[in-house]
Amino acid sequence: MNLILLGPPGSGKGTQARFLTDKRGLVQLSTGDMLRSAMAAGTEIGLRAKDIMASGRLVSDDVVNGIVGERIDAPDVRKGFILDGYPRTLGQAAALEKMLADRRRKLDAVIELRVDDDDELVRRVSGRYTCAKCGEGYHDQTKQPRRPGVCDKCGSTEFKRRADDSAEAMKIRLMAYYKETSPLIGYYTCKGNLFPIDGLADMANVERAIGGLLDKLA
Ligand code: AP5
Repeated sequence: MNLILLGPPGSGKGTQARFLTDKRGLVQLSTGDMLRSAMAAGTEIGLRAKDIMASGRLVSDDVVNGIVGERIDAPDVRKGFILDGYPRTLGQAAALEKMLADRRRKLDAVIELRVDDDDELVRRVSGRYTCAKCGEGYHDQTKQPRRPGVCDKCGSTEFKRRADDSAEAMKIRLMAYYKETSPLIGYYTCKGNLFPIDGLADMANVERAIGGLLDKLA
């Protein structure tokens, strides 16, 4: 199955993509993670993306289309993928359509995680942090490690926060979403493969709703 998870920053795309990877063996293709890895590796793409991402703006279509195009051909992606954070503009959606047509692959569903509450989105991202070693996610208000300062999963004592999770960058990320990405809701509705899910529900209920939808589509 080939899926897109569409939604504003903090709507739960990454969280639900990880659940789908664990339960259904699909490969998560997160353009945000790919760009952060490029930054950590100090590649040319990473260096170009660093300041743009920290400010909350979108990286250019050419760059992200290029990294998705390379990744989608990898053998592990043949079983199926979940695009998390891509496409994000109408230009990217057109590029993806061509990429899939050239490879005789199809898109099964675009799952929209609908969260019509900006305060909730800001609350979710501004409190989050991850273990620097294993990537386990935590949140200042909703999920602290059992032993303060020690990762539950791997015991590491180092944690990190994303530069673009500040309140200032979040305003720009939300603006980019409403201006550049939300037109994709109409685009995929017209194509008949958009499935909205209530992203304000708790994580387990969102997971259940997505699972039910995918069982019906299978
Ligand atoms: P990216 O890394 O894709 O970030 P994002 O889309 O802004 O989304 P987030 O990762 O912040 O949120 P999410 O929806 O995945 O939610 P999550 O599950 O983490 O992009 C970052 C930047 O990279 C962009 O701004 C841009 O610069 C660049 N970029 C990336 N792709 C690009 C593209 N295609 N084109 C151009 N530029 C691109 O959850 C968030 C928090 O909420 C967590 O703490 C989680 O535990 C919690 N949570 C999740 N679900 C629930 C729930 N149901 N109830 C309560 N809490 C929840």
